Amino acid sequence: MNDCVIVTGGAGFIGSNFVLQWVANTESEVVNLDALTYAGNRGNLTSLDGNPRHNFVRGDICDASLVASLFERFQPRAILHFAAESHVDRSITGPDAFVQTNVFGTFTLLQAAKQYWEKLPAGDKERFRFLHVSTDEVYGTLGPDDPAFSETTPYAPNSPYAASKAGSDHLVRAYHHTYGLPTLTTNCSNNYGPFQFPEKLIPLMILNALEGKPLPVYGDGLNIRDWLFVEDHCTAIRTVLERGRLGETYNVGGNSERNNIHVVHTICDLLDELRPDAAIGSRRGLITYVKDRPGHDRRYAINADKISTELGWKPSENFESGIRATVTWYLEHLDWVNEIRSGAYQQWIELNYKERLGAER
Ligand code: NAD
Ligand code: DAU
Repeated sequence: MNDCVIVTGGAGFIGSNFVLQWVANTESEVVNLDALTYAGNRGNLTSLDGNPRHNFVRGDICDASLVASLFERFQPRAILHFAAESHVDRSITGPDAFVQTNVFGTFTLLQAAKQYWEKLPAGDKERFRFLHVSTDEVYGTLGPDDPAFSETTPYAPNSPYAASKAGSDHLVRAYHHTYGLPTLTTNCSNNYGPFQFPEKLIPLMILNALEGKPLPVYGDGLNIRDWLFVEDHCTAIRTVLERGRLGETYNVGGNSERNNIHVVHTICDLLDELRPDAAIGSRRGLITYVKDRPGHDRRYAINADKISTELGWKPSENFESGIRATVTWYLEHLDWVNEIRSGAYQQWIELNYKERLGAER
């Protein structure tokens, strides 16, 4: 076995932040398997061009023979599984790809990992890890006074995305319970930070507000998410990989519950400060309440006591410092933004917002 890891989905938002952090902080090699769907972007990884410790492979996690060949060729000590269809709104209009990648793709990786792991010599067998990156959305929704999600909260996924991630979590659990595969699962809250595709709330609002476009807030804007800066999520995953107990799940969160309208106000105020524009005026004036997301979960909150007390992980950024760093990053990377806002992006914006913006509350 080599000191090498396979990362799936390492050209996406969290995966690319993870790969960059991994290469900067370890001596180990990364094999980055990514299909480069609309959400995958080689441009997130240009700083690794020519780096012999980063091997990029364009391919699908559902391709069993490709996945098996990567295990054989690289003999990794771990696989870190980020690849997924990740956007809730897209899962509502087109759930098929979510079942395929999130459920069948995870199954394909588990099968290949199991076959590889079973053949390893005893010492290597103990060292190998399958780390599955998942979401707090598997737990469903909370009322205002409910306790935060813990690792023992029953699963109650509400969107096709959440249900497909719940299915993948259950498969990972079963491969540990039935076959003894050394698995670890993380269930994390909402991430934000550099390289996030601008279909998600924070980058969408930053870019629309910068350009003086409407800021489409779903429903009454009072849905709550627990926001975590992406680099903190990546350090949590590295911590769980090195010290997590086999077969366990770890909740990861930012201890930063904010409602959506607060998030949007914060972005507007930061842009008014950093990029004042007399023609736009106060950016809060761009806020447009639109038709709600069907089945919209009201509140997510994470109890991260287990990872904190057992493994000593804590987030380093709070929401105020993290959102300022994120807005600044987008302002300094408008070339990156312009490259990804191509045809496929525009089609999605038109599909998702045309009806919504035509149905203002
Ligand atoms: P993303 O959509 O930005 O990136 C997903 C990546 O997976 C892309 O690079 C895409 O090309 C790749 N991919 C998709 N289908 C593939 C396939 N069949 N084969 C190979 N590659 C494929 O997603 P993200 O926001 O970076 O999320 C990464 C993981 O973290 C996901 O598993 C997601 O469920 C989980 N997660 C995300 C958040 C969040 O707030 N974004 C929070 C908690 C957990
Ligand atoms: O909780 C973790 C999850 O967080 C991850 O598993 C998902 O992959 C990730 O996409 C994210 O899901 P959300 O649905 O919470 O994120 P999104 O950015 O799509 O929406 C955040 C909130 O903002 C949600 O309440 C819906 C709202 N929203 C979103 C968009 C895109 C709006 O009001 N307007 C918008 O235009």
